[in-house]
Amino acid sequence: MSGSIDSKEIYTFDEAYERLLGMDLNGVPGIAAGIKNVPPMEDLISLEGKTAIVTGGARGLGITIVNRLAEAGAKVVIVDLAVEFAEAAVAFFGTKGYQVKFFKADIRDLDRIQGAIDFAVKEFGSLDILVNNAGLWQIKHYCDFTEEDWDLCLDVCLKGTFFFTQKAAKQMVKQGTGGRVVNTISVGAYSMENYVGCMSPYVAAKGGILAMSRSLARELKPLGIAINCVCPPGMATVGGAHSGVPKDIMELMGTFPSVPVADPDKVARVVRMVVSDVGVLFQGSDIVADDGTRWQLRK
Ligand SMILES: NC(=O)c1ccc[n+]([C@@H]2O[C@H](COP(=O)([O-])OP(=O)(O)OC[C@H]3O[C@@H](n4cnc5c(N)ncnc54)[C@H](O)[C@@H]3O)[C@@H](O)[C@H]2O)c1
Repeated sequence: MSGSIDSKEIYTFDEAYERLLGMDLNGVPGIAAGIKNVPPMEDLISLEGKTAIVTGGARGLGITIVNRLAEAGAKVVIVDLAVEFAEAAVAFFGTKGYQVKFFKADIRDLDRIQGAIDFAVKEFGSLDILVNNAGLWQIKHYCDFTEEDWDLCLDVCLKGTFFFTQKAAKQMVKQGTGGRVVNTISVGAYSMENYVGCMSPYVAAKGGILAMSRSLARELKPLGIAINCVCPPGMATVGGAHSGVPKDIMELMGTFPSVPVADPDKVARVVRMVVSDVGVLFQGSDIVADDGTRWQLRK
C-alpha cells in the first residue's frame, strides 16, 4: 500500500473500527466516544450556503421542493416556462424571506439550460444542487400517440434531464465542491401494473431517466457529485389535474383499484433529505416515496 497514512495493510475488525471512528469496541466509554462527535441531525439537513436549481419549480411538486430547499437555507432558482406561476411563486417566497429567483427557460433548449446555470452562478455565486423535476405526460391509447407526442415527452423529460445534468455537473466540477442531482421519476418507471398503461412515451422517458441516472452515477461519483432519483406517487398538482384523460380510459381506470393521491409536499421533504448531508450515502439510488402505489397498498 503506497502513499497510505501508515504502513500496516491488514487490520483486525476492532483495529479498523478504532482507526476509523476512534472507538474502542470493547468498552462502554469507547462506544460513547464513537458517537460523541457526530453532528446534530438539524445541522445535517441544513442547506445553508448552497444554491439549487429546480426545473418545473413554478408549481405542482416543483414549488413544494423550492419551498423545502429554501426553508433549509438554500438559495433557489426556479427554471420554468410558466411565467405567471413562477412570478407568483417568487413573490410568495419573498414574503417568507427566502432567496428565490426565476429564470425562464425551456429545458429542451441547451443554450437556455446554460443560461439558467450562468444565471444561478451570477446571482447566487455557485450551483450545488440540481433538481430535474420538470415533466409532462399524456394519457392515450398506444395507437393514438403521434410522433409529436413522443418527441415532446421524451425531449422534456429525458433529453432535458440529461443535458441539464451534463451542464450542471460541468459547473460543479469547475467549482471543485461537488454537488447533488435529484431526478423526479414516476411509478411508471418501474411498471404500470397498478394502472391501465396508456402512457407509453412517459413510461419510456421515466424508465430512461432511472437507467441513465444509474449509469451517470458511475461517472459522477468520482467527481464528488451524487445523482439519485425520487419516485413520487400520484399527486394533487396542476399537471395531475389537467392530464386530460379520455373518457373511455377514465372508465377503464374506474375499474382498477384506486391509488393514493398524495400531498406533493411529502415528496418534497424526501428531496430535501436526499440533497442534504442526511442523504450522503445515496449514490445512483432510486428512493421510492410512493405511499405504496407500486404495490397497490390502500388504507
Ligand atoms: N402529478 C403526479 O401525479 C406525478 C406523479 C409521479 C411523478 N410526477 C412527476 O413530477 C414532476 C412534476 O410534475 P407535476 O405533477 O408537479 O406537474 P405540473 O404540470 O404541475 O408541473 C410541471 C412544471 O414543469 C414545467 N415544464 C414543463 N415543460 C417544461 C419545459 N419544457 N421547460 C421548462 N419547464 C417545463 C411546467 O411549466 C410546470 O410548471 C414531473 O416530472 C412529473 O412527471 C408527477
